[in-house]
Amino acid sequence: MKGIILSGGKGTRLYPLTRVLSKQILPVYDKPMIYYPLSMFLLAGIKEILIISSMDHIEFYRNQLGTGEMLGISLTYKVQKEPRGLADAFIIGEEFIGDSDVALILGDNIFYGSNMSQFLDEAQRQISDVGGATVFGYYVRNPKPFGVVEFDKDGKVLSIEEKPENPKSNYIVPGLYFYDNRVVKFAQEVEPSARGEIEITSINQRYLELGELRVKRFGRGVAWFDAGTATGLLEASNFIAAIQNQQGFYIAAIEEIAYRKGFITKDQLMEIGKELSKSDYGRYLLEIAEEGLD
Ligand code: DAU
Repeated sequence: MKGIILSGGKGTRLYPLTRVLSKQILPVYDKPMIYYPLSMFLLAGIKEILIISSMDHIEFYRNQLGTGEMLGISLTYKVQKEPRGLADAFIIGEEFIGDSDVALILGDNIFYGSNMSQFLDEAQRQISDVGGATVFGYYVRNPKPFGVVEFDKDGKVLSIEEKPENPKSNYIVPGLYFYDNRVVKFAQEVEPSARGEIEITSINQRYLELGELRVKRFGRGVAWFDAGTATGLLEASNFIAAIQNQQGFYIAAIEEIAYRKGFITKDQLMEIGKELSKSDYGRYLLEIAEEGLD
């Protein structure tokens, strides 16, 4: 399975912070925001990743992350000229996707939870075994600004709606989606919504109509943040700081995950750690390398 990180948009909800800087490069506590979605793909074992951003910002990402070689993965980059909607990721990414299955993660979505690897493994297994789409449900107090999913009493999905005036449930669909290869064709067929965007929710509705949409509910042990607003950004930063400082384990240290997944060797991790050894982050990577994996 391949992965796409969608990191474009104008970041208008974060003006004036984002007048000159790309939102997804802003710090969430001690790392660029994009480290968090990227770490989800690393955890999932997805090694071929396309990063999509605007013309003004794509070079930030290329400079920050390069070819991915340092992480033992392959990173490629593409421009989205205008923020036409999330479904555009599959149109821009058509050539990259080829005949693979594909996962999409939004560059401003941050996930954290103890059984995250299991959720990721299961979603991928479902797509490769039976195809269709797997997305997630996450309970929030105010679902109105998001995609909202409604279940019946047996947990079957009844409807999925984008930013409904009257939400039918408190479960929103966060920005992490797994699809079979038909998503490319479905994205090309999506009509713009009332707000003029080609919505990811329209793609999910298509799979729902076909009876091929699975929605896995995250329990209370999973935390999710949309870091695309000032409040979301601050809350995510505070959360990451609290967990990291208390436990001493870093969240979304991409080099650590690449090492634990076997994408890079102990020596490679050592080298990166040494280069960054003036920072706590670099010293942490060195400690991980010195400890080894057992
Ligand atoms: O955060 C989860 C929500 O994300 C979902 O629950 C919704 O169903 C989904 O539509 C989306 O809603 P948002 O209103 O939060 O999407 P937004 O337009 O803010 O875009 C999300 C991110 O994707 C943001 O970082 C900007 C980027 N983006 C957005 C668009 C429309 C792009 O890179 N290109 C685009 O064309």
